[in-house]
Amino acid sequence: MPYGQSAIAAKSASKLEEVLIWLREDLMGELEAINQYQVHIDNIDDPEIKDLLAHIRDDEKEHVAEITHLIARIDAIQREKFAEDHTMAASERIAGDTESKVLTVGSMMGK
Ligand SMILES: [Fe+2]
Repeated sequence: MPYGQSAIAAKSASKLEEVLIWLREDLMGELEAINQYQVHIDNIDDPEIKDLLAHIRDDEKEHVAEITHLIARIDAIQREKFAEDHTMAASERIAGDTESKVLTVGSMMGK
């Protein structure tokens, strides 16, 4: 169920700070799960198990995105930080062209 903006507005500021702490902890857990699944995928030979674990790993990536977006909805400073790509110098950024400059696992491996 989507967590509506009205529900967020109804919480007190101190309660929202507590919720943000929990969400950041949840985010860490999701990221650790991705790494754990990846290690297992890399060390299991059975293709069926690898495929299933890869599917689960990708679900965890969706959870990272969901929690990240939820944090950004609640935390205005975090939302502002997400709005800009901080991974490259401003002089290297091409206005309106973020796709070609974004490093990915594939681009770092020459793919
Ligand atoms: Fe998850």
